[in-house]
Order: sequence, then C-alpha cells, then structure tokens
Amino acid sequence: MKAVRIHEFGGPDVLELEEAPTPEPAADEVLIKVYATSVNPVDWKIREGARKSKFPVDLPLIPGWDVSGVVEKVGENVKRFKWGDEVYGRPDPTKNGAYAEYIVVKANQLGFKPKSIDHINAAAVPLAGLTAWQGLFDRGHLQKGQKVLIHAASGGVGTFAVQFAKWKGAYVIGTTSASNISFVKQLGADEVIDYKNESFEDKVHDVDLVFDTIGGDTQRRSVQVLKNGGRLITTLKPEVQAEAKEKHIYLEGYTAQSYPEQLEQIGSLIDEGRIQPVVSMVMSLEEARRAQQISEEGHVRGKIVIKVV
Ligand SMILES: NC(=O)c1ccc[n+]([C@@H]2O[C@H](COP(=O)([O-])OP(=O)(O)OC[C@H]3O[C@@H](n4cnc5c(N)ncnc54)[C@H](OP(=O)(O)O)[C@@H]3O)[C@@H](O)[C@H]2O)c1
Repeated sequence: MKAVRIHEFGGPDVLELEEAPTPEPAADEVLIKVYATSVNPVDWKIREGARKSKFPVDLPLIPGWDVSGVVEKVGENVKRFKWGDEVYGRPDPTKNGAYAEYIVVKANQLGFKPKSIDHINAAAVPLAGLTAWQGLFDRGHLQKGQKVLIHAASGGVGTFAVQFAKWKGAYVIGTTSASNISFVKQLGADEVIDYKNESFEDKVHDVDLVFDTIGGDTQRRSVQVLKNGGRLITTLKPEVQAEAKEKHIYLEGYTAQSYPEQLEQIGSLIDEGRIQPVVSMVMSLEEARRAQQISEEGHVRGKIVIKVV
C-alpha cells in the first residue's frame, strides 16, 4: 500500500511517501480502508522525536492518529463491525497511523462514522473532538450556566470545545487573534479576546473552568481569572502547581483517550446539526510534509485534513 512513513526522527523532510506492507488485523482489530485522516500537532511532535517517553514508537512509523474510512476486514473476535461499515476513530499513537491507504485499529477504539458528513469532515473529529469533550466534561466537570475560558478557540481542539461548551449551556469566552474573532463568535462564543492585543486576565474574572491548549505563560496567567476552587485543565504539561494550590484551584493535564461511546455521542450531535467540524484545508498524502509544516506554524483554523481516497 501507499503510506507516508518516517525512518528516523527529524524535520518534515523525514516524511517519505512510499510503498509499505498492508497490515493484517489481529483478532481484536479491524482493517480499515482509509478515506481521510487529519493532521494534529502530535503528528509532528512524534516525528521530531519529542514524545518518545509518552508515546514510545517503533520505526519505520506511519503518522496520523485520526481516521475515517470503511471496514475492509475484521479480526476473528470482532463482533461490532463488519465489512463495509463506515467507521471513524483515533488510533493508538504508539502504533502506525493513517497517513496510508490502510490501517489496523483495535475495534474498541472505533465508532460508527456520523452519517450526515463525509469522510473528510469525519476525519477532523476524533482526536480533537475527544480531547475537547474529555477536557471540558470528564476533567473540567463543566455544567450549564458556568463560565468557561477556552484558549486557542479557533484551533483543532478549540473549535470543538467552544461548540461543546455552548451546547452544554455554559457562558463561553474564547481567545484567538483578530482575524478569527467573528469566526469564533459564529461557533457560539459569547465573548472573544484577541490574545495578541489584549490581556485576557484584564478582561475576564470568576471563571469556573479554564481549558488551556497553549501552556506556558498563558497557563500561568489563567490562574488569575479563575474563581477560588475553579478548575484549570490543560492538554499540555501542568506547570503552575504552586499558584493553583494557593488559590485552591484544581489543576490537571491529561492525554485524550479513545472511547467509542464518546465518539458516537459526538457523532450524534453532528448528525443532529448541533456540532460541525471545521476543515480549513484538504491536502493529499503527497503534501504531508507541507501539511505538517503548516500545522507546526500554529495558526490553523480548525483542521487540516489529508484526503486519501
Ligand atoms: N493532551 C492531549 O491529549 C492533546 C490532544 C490534542 C491536542 N493536544 C495539544 O493541544 C495543543 C492544541 O492542539 P490543537 O490541535 O488545537 O492546535 P492547533 O489547531 O494547531 O491550534 C492552532 C490555533 O491556535 C491559535 N493560537 C495560537 N497561539 C495562540 C495563543 N497564544 N492564544 C490563543 N490562541 C492561539 C491559533 O489562532 P491564530 O491563528 O488566530 O493565532 C490557531 O487557530 C497542541 O499543543 C497539541 O499538541 C494535546
């Protein structure tokens, strides 16, 4: 099969489009014909060799930990899926990903693809959508009527987080830059702060939850806007333990997990028209290097999808 692989860690040039063996599903796995995958920052972080302890991988490695496609074959113990089913999911980031014509994924990491959208839009959902869902609800315990500050509200994770928080009935404040302000308002944010020209800590107070996908100084300043006893949930490293403790703030970093029931819950919201994936660019496997370079620049609106079929 055709696949993009890395044989060593490094810059975008280590990505090679080449022939690779088509995988065979183990007893608990599904072989998926990949229609589309999407680019997430973890793709280039792993490519650079920056995540070896968190995500130990073997080389050569196929990146791409989002997939939307069609079941080609199932392992002998798989009962939930059959040939021809349309599925989507976030494959295990320590195994080969979906910048390829085929991928094997454990059946217990997949959901049925939402019916109302195509594979391009579906491939934008799993990793970012699960991350937003788990950050806001499983870790952040966001409730109706609460106030949430979502950093990078225009990004892959943020565009889902804004929509999920609004669906939940929260008061939503997002940060982004000037050119994305009206876009983030359209997603449902009640207030949007331009992080380049305004200091969010001067404008926002008494927040119940901060959802941080930026880290560093943004995470540090976020402590100031939280209520005593509020929650600061980050997709990055939690770095402000002392400040959080002083203000009785619950601080947690986490790694998103692949839960089929959440994939299907998010899929139902998409099919009901309440949530929409945001795909700003569609590229090909041949353009994988460029796609990762663009992601690495840090200013993608929503998602870059790689169309395979
Ligand atoms: N722990 C986990 O399981 C997990 C899962 C998913 C992602 N992550 C991590 O979470 C981070 C975000 O992921 P993502 O996919 O959402 O990234 P992304 O899509 O690449 O984020 C890009 C967005 O960030 C905005 N942005 C950049 N700097 C900003 C700042 N200082 N303040 C506010 N917005 C800013 C940009 O808006 P402008 O163009 O307007 O600047 C752009 O729209 C990454 O570091 C990723 O590795 C972790």
